[in-house]
Amino acid sequence: MPQRTFSIVKPDAVRNGHTGAILAEIDKAGFRIAAIKKQSISKREAEGFYAVHKERPFFDDLCAFMASGPLVLMVLEKDNAIADLRKLMGATNPTNAEEGTIRKKFAASIQENAIHGSDAEDTAAFEIGYWFAGYELI
Ligand code: RTP
Ligand code: MG
Repeated sequence: MPQRTFSIVKPDAVRNGHTGAILAEIDKAGFRIAAIKKQSISKREAEGFYAVHKERPFFDDLCAFMASGPLVLMVLEKDNAIADLRKLMGATNPTNAEEGTIRKKFAASIQENAIHGSDAEDTAAFEIGYWFAGYELI
């Protein structure tokens, strides 16, 4: 089976009307969407998702931002999905993101950076399971 990764179109990108353009980039890069849903999340739900960052100084702001408006949660599938999505996203800080990446095109700041992608196999498995039940992956 191809590799799965977890992604989010973050609230800034949804608010700014970039959802369709970001999904088009993901599609063009050859990912198959195994699951997708648009919803709002609570700050507490964001804190559980980003628990690995709970000691970081930006944790509270980050979780408030993720709860600030609707977002789009996705499970994406392709060979080498985890690394390939990270490449397509670009660097965390859009100032440092390569030309042509999603963050270069659509992100405004290091926090409001348009998209999330899992960074390893174990985090992808945790993140997919956090937001989706097995029966939703098709
Ligand atoms: P992500 O997890 O969202 O895919 O982003 P990432 O791996 O590129 O970055 P990570 O270090 O995991 O940080 C998670 C998210 O926290 C926000 N952040 N803010 N203010 C800051 O210095 C700062 N640093 C990180 C960003 O939204 C980042 O994507
Ligand atoms: Mg990360």
